[in-house]
Amino acid sequence: MLNAKRLFQSLLLAVCMTAIPTHLQAAEGKPGTFTVGNKTFLLNGQPFVVKAAEVHYPRIPRPYWEHRIKMCKALGMNTLCLYVFWNIHEQREGEFDFTGNNDVAEFCRLAQKNGMYVIVRPGPYVCAEWEMGGLPWWLLKKKDIKLRERDPYFMERVKIFEEKVGEQLKPLTIQNGGPIIMIQVENEYGSYGEDKPYVKEIRDCLREIYSPTPDPSRGGEGSKYSQNGKTAEDVTTPLPSAGGAGGGAPLFFQCDWSSNFEKNGLDDLTWTMNFGTGANIDQQFRRLGELRPNAPKMCSEFWSGWFDKWGARHETRPAKDMVEGMDEMLSKGISFSLYMTHGGTSFGHWAGANSPGFAPDVTSYDYDAPINEWGLATPKFWELRTMMQKYNDGKKMPTVPKAPMPIITVPKFELTEFCHLWTCITTEIESRDLKTFEELNMGWGCAYYRTQLPEIPVQSVLTLEVHDYAQIWIGNKFIGKIDRVKNEKSITLPPVKKGEQLTILVEAMGRINFGRAIKDFKGLPGNAIVEAEVDGNEVNWNLKNWRIQPIPDDYDAFAHQVTTTDIKDVIVPSDGKKALGYYRGYFNLKKVGDTFLNFETWGKGQVWVNGHAMGRIWSIGPQQTLYVPGCWLKKGKNEIIVLDIVGPKEAVVWGQAEPELNKLQLEQSNKHNNIGDKPDLNSATPVAAGAFKAGNGWQTIKFNAPQKGRFLAIECLSTQKDGDRVAIAELYLQGQDGKRLSREPWKTKYANSEEENGNHLGDKVFDLQESTYWQTEKSAQAPHLLVIDLGSVQTVSALEYLPRAEQGAPGSVKDFKIYLY
Ligand code: GLA
Ligand code: CA
Repeated sequence: MLNAKRLFQSLLLAVCMTAIPTHLQAAEGKPGTFTVGNKTFLLNGQPFVVKAAEVHYPRIPRPYWEHRIKMCKALGMNTLCLYVFWNIHEQREGEFDFTGNNDVAEFCRLAQKNGMYVIVRPGPYVCAEWEMGGLPWWLLKKKDIKLRERDPYFMERVKIFEEKVGEQLKPLTIQNGGPIIMIQVENEYGSYGEDKPYVKEIRDCLREIYSPTPDPSRGGEGSKYSQNGKTAEDVTTPLPSAGGAGGGAPLFFQCDWSSNFEKNGLDDLTWTMNFGTGANIDQQFRRLGELRPNAPKMCSEFWSGWFDKWGARHETRPAKDMVEGMDEMLSKGISFSLYMTHGGTSFGHWAGANSPGFAPDVTSYDYDAPINEWGLATPKFWELRTMMQKYNDGKKMPTVPKAPMPIITVPKFELTEFCHLWTCITTEIESRDLKTFEELNMGWGCAYYRTQLPEIPVQSVLTLEVHDYAQIWIGNKFIGKIDRVKNEKSITLPPVKKGEQLTILVEAMGRINFGRAIKDFKGLPGNAIVEAEVDGNEVNWNLKNWRIQPIPDDYDAFAHQVTTTDIKDVIVPSDGKKALGYYRGYFNLKKVGDTFLNFETWGKGQVWVNGHAMGRIWSIGPQQTLYVPGCWLKKGKNEIIVLDIVGPKEAVVWGQAEPELNKLQLEQSNKHNNIGDKPDLNSATPVAAGAFKAGNGWQTIKFNAPQKGRFLAIECLSTQKDGDRVAIAELYLQGQDGKRLSREPWKTKYANSEEENGNHLGDKVFDLQESTYWQTEKSAQAPHLLVIDLGSVQTVSALEYLPRAEQGAPGSVKDFKIYLY
């Protein structure tokens, strides 16, 4: 009897021991395991569905980290998913910083303290609408570097960085009693290229770092990933611990789009898929199910919303689609990470830019996520929380924490202290040729480029590759601007006398973070060519002998100078151009709190509050306010400095209680409905005509014979479902050899109708993103026409078409005609 009771007790204990760790182990800090079982993940041997919230530590002020973690937990999430941003940790080559807001290990410890697991995505490339996708700019000092390839210097730096991250995070893997359950290898490599050997090297580098003891059979110290003549093929055998049952190394995984996966998917890594709200989930996992019927399913980035770029409307996605998608995944036992659960802010100069073309991202990374930029619950949050309650094992949901700070307003005040930009020049370089910022050893900021012009008695055209925003003067006269966002490359100059000074002020925005264009040098990366017709002859000059004055954007370099002049004493140039430079002002606070400073009367530049870099501003919008966290403010006097490289209309600022993220102030509408751009297709012969099939996924239309033309016109005569508005997610053209043409030079020439709300303009068909699309307005009548300028005459043999990713492919085109002219 006694024995039976004991047995029962120890059985009960055993049951508890296996049941308890699943929930509490993250907080308890006992070593555990996270592995792959049959169609499921296993946490300490028990089936586990990952409910991860993507949040980025540099996008949240450190004093608010724990609040945001608790907010994610209150949504019913059990895990936090984060990138490690190489360029914020190694801002200068060889100098690492994991302190303060960069203390990623502390972020993980806070997660664990709050009973949350962590997924780490250490890149080296992360995308994330972050400057250069997380890669440090100084890599570009080696001009011929091949990024995200097996370039020896790139790989050497990657390895050093990953080892430094490993020093921080290896003690925090679940195997070592920490919260980290999964580690990602590279990021969405498919939209960059096809290169398994490279992805394997990254995998091996990470495995080596996070495996329990160095494996001497693989080269030992100094040779931790395939070097010494070993190819990556030699080391494909999975370590016993890598995702197998139990053991020492964390689970390594890859993430990519389902349509890209097979390009770089490695057999011994877990595959997870990225797709947005509304996507047809079964379709997204179909191919994985065919190839790996027993693999667990996980959506590694379920996009709750989307990011904003300068000059286009604020992006939103319906709460309903998000909640339904997550409900569907949970009902099927599919794991997910909600990207973003809380987006936060790309403070300072850390916002990136998208490509094709150049589409810099705004400072706010609100993302229309359930937890807004400043950490509060949105209506989306509450809807999601209600649904997540169903999957909370019958337990009460964790409480929603109180906001760490109140919201305050700040009455309008003027910034009266001023100094011209050029007063902050400390160095001048003389150079025969133009130099990029990287060649000037400068990562971010502005530079003046000056040279003497030859005698040009007539008007001429100056052609320049500008990265990213240039203003041009001759002598003291302002001539105009060249804006990379608008794909501008030239400007007309008036007649000039020999020796007149040409001045070009170039401001860099974020480096491109997506696609092949991430190798994005700043400043003036080409030549400055002036062309004119003199006495009936074409004459051109390649301008040389430059004086270059770099102006870095770090606070310490200029802040002390911004007291010299009262703005009232500044002489505004006669051409009406506003005074450009640094403005300083102060505001007094009785009570500290979060606020949104409004800059809609300003031109273009950056803002610092009490020495904290707050982010970029640009009058064109859609973002007009900057989120200023109360934890960086103080009672009494607070300092604000605005660098305006264009000059403000009025140097005033005020703090409001809500952000303005959707106010465009454009010179012209960004729609493409100028009737003069509409081609007359009446007498033209289509190169192809017919009907697309219904349903999701890519379709290719082969032409009878290759055709030449500079413009592609796609005429949509009807939709698969009557009454739908037309939507197209992506288009590619194939050249004569059947390979996809580069879409880099593409521009939308004409669209008869574009839904501007939610940002569904024509350029969404070549933005490389399968989840974004061109959509016509509700009221618009068929036939619909979209015309794309391919940049130059191309030979085309086929068109590839992708409808929307949502179930039933809403808005998919039925009857079509394709023209090239
Ligand atoms: C991809 C990337 C992310 C992010 C999103 C868009 O999925 O992996 O880093 O850029 O797109 O927000
Ligand atoms: Ca798209």
